Amino acid sequence: MINPNRHRIKKTMKQILHIISSPMGNYSHSIKLGNAIIKQLALKHPGSKITERNLVNDNPPYLDSAHILASFKNEQDISDEEKEKLGYSDTILREIKHADIVILGAPMYNFGIHATLKAYIDQIVRLGQTITYQADGTRIGLLADKTVYLAITAGGSYNNEFNPVNDYIVNHLSAILKYIGINNIKSLIIEGTKRPGFTVDYDEICRNI
Ligand SMILES: Cc1cc2nc3c(=O)[nH]c(=O)nc-3n(C[C@H](O)[C@H](O)[C@H](O)COP(=O)(O)O)c2cc1C
Repeated sequence: MINPNRHRIKKTMKQILHIISSPMGNYSHSIKLGNAIIKQLALKHPGSKITERNLVNDNPPYLDSAHILASFKNEQDISDEEKEKLGYSDTILREIKHADIVILGAPMYNFGIHATLKAYIDQIVRLGQTITYQADGTRIGLLADKTVYLAITAGGSYNNEFNPVNDYIVNHLSAILKYIGINNIKSLIIEGTKRPGFTVDYDEICRNI
């Protein structure tokens, strides 16, 4: 039977990409926060499609000279070997370009993001794909029209004098996202996950997103 609401669902449905960078699986607070964000978004946008990119299970390769040299070449000059080198980057670029909403899980490890997330960022910032230069030399980001929710978790609780969550995660990720054209960025932060007796209501945090 044809669903009479199908046109409405088609209109509201979104492509949602959940990027995971915690190695902690079922124990991960950033994954649970990301899932709570998705639960809330699914209520707002019925019929949405969710894709998961787990950077810990499937590690992004580190940039090397072959990758960097290939990434600056014109499409027609790229050899088959170089195409293969850029394969991972091509795949994740297709994925993020297709997404309307991105949930970027960013647990704090040693005052910064997990190494897999840094490697992922290095693979998506690419000339001609996510950034380009206009005739007058102005640089523009190409991934406009997306919303990114940062799902940030840290074991400690920080004050204004020393705040690595803001300084090394929110500011760093926001700078990168703006660089590639994404300006609609919302941060959801859970601090103190390693404090004795820590509990959290993930759904409550996401209620008003
Ligand atoms: C190797 C390691 C390094 C960590 N470094 C920090 C840190 O620098 N600052 C902090 O507040 N918490 C730190 N933590 C605690 C994590 O931020 C905390 O466990 C958080 O919940 C991680 O997110 P996740 O649960 O999604 O993995 C560290 C934990 C581990 C295992």
